[in-house]
Amino acid sequence: MTVETVAGKPVLEARDLVKTYGRVVGLDGVGLQLFPGEILAVVGDNGAGKSTLIKCLTGAEIPTSGELFINGSPVSFKRPQDARDAGLETVYQTLAVSPTLDVASNLFLGREIRRKGFAGTMLRALDVKGMRERARAELAELGISTLQDVTVPVENLSGGQRQAVAVARAAAFGSKIVVLDEPTAALGVRESNQVLQLIRTLRDRGTAVILISHNMPQVFEVADRIHIQRLGKCAGTITPQSHSMTDAVAIMTGAQTL
Ligand SMILES: Nc1ncnc2c1ncn2[C@@H]1O[C@H](COP(=O)(O)OP(=O)(O)OP(=O)(O)O)[C@@H](O)[C@H]1O
Ligand SMILES: [Mg+2]
Repeated sequence: MTVETVAGKPVLEARDLVKTYGRVVGLDGVGLQLFPGEILAVVGDNGAGKSTLIKCLTGAEIPTSGELFINGSPVSFKRPQDARDAGLETVYQTLAVSPTLDVASNLFLGREIRRKGFAGTMLRALDVKGMRERARAELAELGISTLQDVTVPVENLSGGQRQAVAVARAAAFGSKIVVLDEPTAALGVRESNQVLQLIRTLRDRGTAVILISHNMPQVFEVADRIHIQRLGKCAGTITPQSHSMTDAVAIMTGAQTL
């Protein structure tokens, strides 16, 4: 795999995305291609446009101009739910879990399974047993072995386990694209490694992953390709094989150009 050409068709593609806030240019014509079964890291200095890029890709912001394609078809997301409906799930930096709910309920938040018949359709009763069974199966498939009990409230879990629930929620139910904003920022070494392993599992299942991170060693450990944002533009896309961490930082700061 070279830097410029990657086999296969992108599951997500952005062309010439621009996002302005009044006179401030958050994104200044950014392109991006994301392929099935790869981890694409997005790095860049503070204010480089990483969050703005992710928001424009995931329906949290509407780009001022530019085009977005899912599996080659043009899309325009007006809200995050539009992106979810298209198979794109996002885990925002602020944890998207409900602390008082248990693990299984968190996994099914917003897509609860109702009981069959009168109880479900008229009384809106939840199929708690069914959801717990599917939650166990989903966690097992993702290789999350530290979560033995899906009936435990998430507030009783460790930081890494909570993050694992948030990632599992995004990964569950066959989403094609998972976007993770600094998923290990608040975690210790062991917990970070667990989350990184989970991200690799997702990738190996064929899910396309976008990982925003400030942690260069982690980026170089897990990413297949690295998109470098600088001053609202993409300063280049590199791989851990083609460039060193020092190169990446130099490109980020403008000391080196590709
Ligand atoms: N809602 C907003 N209103 C005005 N300016 C904004 C807004 N959101 C972002 N910007 C500006 O757009 C530029 C890109 O910001 P963005 O948040 O995307 O950077 P970032 O790469 O995520 O930085 P960080 O690493 O600090 O999170 C910055 O100059 C920022 O001030
Ligand atoms: Mg940001």
